[in-house]
Amino acid sequence: MDALDLLVNRRSASRLAAPAPSGKVLQNIINAGMRAPDHGALQPWRFVIAENDGLVRFSELLRAAAINDGADEKAIEKATQAPLRAPQIITVIAAYKESPKVPQWEQMLSAGCAVQAMQMAALAQGFNGIWRTGAWTEHADVRQAFKCGPNDRIVGFLYLGTPQLKSSTQIIPADSSSFVSYF
Ligand SMILES: Cc1cc2nc3c(=O)[nH]c(=O)nc-3n(C[C@H](O)[C@H](O)[C@H](O)COP(=O)(O)O)c2cc1C
Repeated sequence: MDALDLLVNRRSASRLAAPAPSGKVLQNIINAGMRAPDHGALQPWRFVIAENDGLVRFSELLRAAAINDGADEKAIEKATQAPLRAPQIITVIAAYKESPKVPQWEQMLSAGCAVQAMQMAALAQGFNGIWRTGAWTEHADVRQAFKCGPNDRIVGFLYLGTPQLKSSTQIIPADSSSFVSYF
């Protein structure tokens, strides 16, 4: 897919099935994340890949956390099913590095750029996915399971796989006129 076409017309895909990116394709996705803009070359990110048994462990983690929180049956089931909606989830953690010149917010943006770059790399290779967050990113049990230090942040769960729905309508770039001005 042409790079500009991909950037201008891309859409996320929430209905995902196997196969997930693997081998060289997955490595390209990780490499794209590693090339996110990075002030001070701090590489302030970690990528944790879950697939197969890893997704089951992820599901069990959320189920246990929901039960611990005293959630009702419906919420427990929703939590249990959440990680099973794709054949692969890459959890992206902004891994803050102490720096006199690069504040935490910049490092978080870098990690966010890594999410976008990885999603675009998936798309460029015939896969797709969706960037999700939600309350689980902040949950103590989840943070602990993903080995987050006090200054680390889970910035995204990037669900990846093979899209199950085709974009049916012609894709028209969003009207940018009200978002742009000249200084
Ligand atoms: C930081 C961030 C967090 C997001 N969290 C969620 C989420 O938890 N659930 C969700 O359905 N979409 C979430 N989204 C939005 C989707 O990734 C996606 O952009 C949205 O569904 C619109 O689709 P599109 O990308 O095709 O325009 C998030 C986006 C960003 C940038």
